[in-house]
Amino acid sequence: MKAKLKVQRHQEISEIDARLYGSFVEHLGRAVYNGIYEPTHQSSDSEGFRDDVKQLVKELNVPLVRYPGGNFVSGYKWEDGVGPKENRPRKLDLAWRTIETNEVGVHEFAKWAKEVDAEVNMAVNLGTRGIEEAIELLEYCNFESGTYWSDLRKEHGTEEPFGFKTWCLGNEMDGPWQIGHKTADEYGRLAAETAKAMKLVDSTIDLVVCGSSSSTMPTFGDWERIVLEHTYEYVDYLSLHCYYGNRDNDLENYLAQSLDMDQFIKTVVSICDYVKVKKGSDRKINLSFDEWNVWYHSNDQDDAMEPWQVAPPLLEDIYNFEDALLIGCLLITLLKNSDRVKIACLAQLVNVIAPIMTENDGETWKQTIFYPFMQVSNYGRGVVLTPSVESEAYSAKGFKHVPYLESIATYNEENNELVVFAVNRSQDEALEFIFEQEGFVFDSIIEESTMEGFDIKAVNGVGAEVVKPSMVEKAKLEGTCLITTLSPLSWNVIRIK
Ligand code: AHR
Repeated sequence: MKAKLKVQRHQEISEIDARLYGSFVEHLGRAVYNGIYEPTHQSSDSEGFRDDVKQLVKELNVPLVRYPGGNFVSGYKWEDGVGPKENRPRKLDLAWRTIETNEVGVHEFAKWAKEVDAEVNMAVNLGTRGIEEAIELLEYCNFESGTYWSDLRKEHGTEEPFGFKTWCLGNEMDGPWQIGHKTADEYGRLAAETAKAMKLVDSTIDLVVCGSSSSTMPTFGDWERIVLEHTYEYVDYLSLHCYYGNRDNDLENYLAQSLDMDQFIKTVVSICDYVKVKKGSDRKINLSFDEWNVWYHSNDQDDAMEPWQVAPPLLEDIYNFEDALLIGCLLITLLKNSDRVKIACLAQLVNVIAPIMTENDGETWKQTIFYPFMQVSNYGRGVVLTPSVESEAYSAKGFKHVPYLESIATYNEENNELVVFAVNRSQDEALEFIFEQEGFVFDSIIEESTMEGFDIKAVNGVGAEVVKPSMVEKAKLEGTCLITTLSPLSWNVIRIK
């Protein structure tokens, strides 16, 4: 089968906002405790954070990390996590029915984020709490000094404000499982008033208002419209969340899920723009896809988990090769929509539905999904070029037209590098792939890497990172084209200079 991706020099979808490669650390399972933080671990720094984990986070080159939740934030008292550790209370976390020790709070997390070169995307609790606690937290974090909350931050050892720029107004407030779940009108009013007050404290912040927790929610669509009707003038981004799974073991359908993500994004963009017209506003609301990933492998195990433990192994999906292929398709989809999706957070980062895994008192290891994320985050910088794709297609359950080729190219002017990301969804046929460009001058292939040939259910484990990319030399430059073969069921990255 033949397939082609064609791009032109000045035909761009958008500049890439680095925050597109964000991730997420929630106080959940072993994400914080025994994940990023394990004071007794041999690699831990003086604050108790594991250096081996920091190194892997740096490899992923994550510029933004959402914190502290997630469902957790809807019952969280941020004040419990500041001040001397010995005075911090142990509390019930009702979201995940565990015990929260509060050893890690905003100071510790901010320090850790700095060390991995990431900004914090902070969330406020709009479940059990409201305007007052949100503005107090913002004053504590971002106000210089001379007030009760800013001086308390200094007293707790952080002289300079944290200066957090991006803030989430609660989490998944449309979900009946959420502590303090609200109707769209209830949440819309609270979010609008919280946003107004927060911007009075610090007008430089960006606010993300909650959209739907998935496109399958019965309130999807109306929720976005109503919430935006209340908040349009005060917020900057609307959130989207989505998790995929291959529960029916239907690979053709599974690898088509990126088309669902694409549709989801486009629908939400339409709703934002509808409210803009209705309000006669000059503002443009962009999107924060602040939770996306595969999540289903661990569901049964979690259902059987004993409640009220500290850091139990919750949501520990072990990802296989087909998950890595889908993650590649989803990353390409985010890039295709980078004109409106400015922030995205792979949910999550360590142990909990995560690319990075740790053993308690032991080693770290990389899941299969680590690699496509790492490659796109490191090499997919600059601008996204408008793709013109020619590919045969198949039909799958729920999808009439699924192109075998999923592909995009980015151009980084700083180092004059063109990068092609491509998935071949075909289970049995290679694609004779032509990448045709107009307007660029390039004469060498920096590298061509591929993840291919693995059993579709193959997984990695501690000391066994088997499912990973390998370098190949199949591609040839011919005039303005690059020609290569994309193996059946493969994830491919080709960098050209
Ligand atoms: O990422 C895991 C959970 O998924 C988050 O806590 C919640 O926001 C979503 O339902």
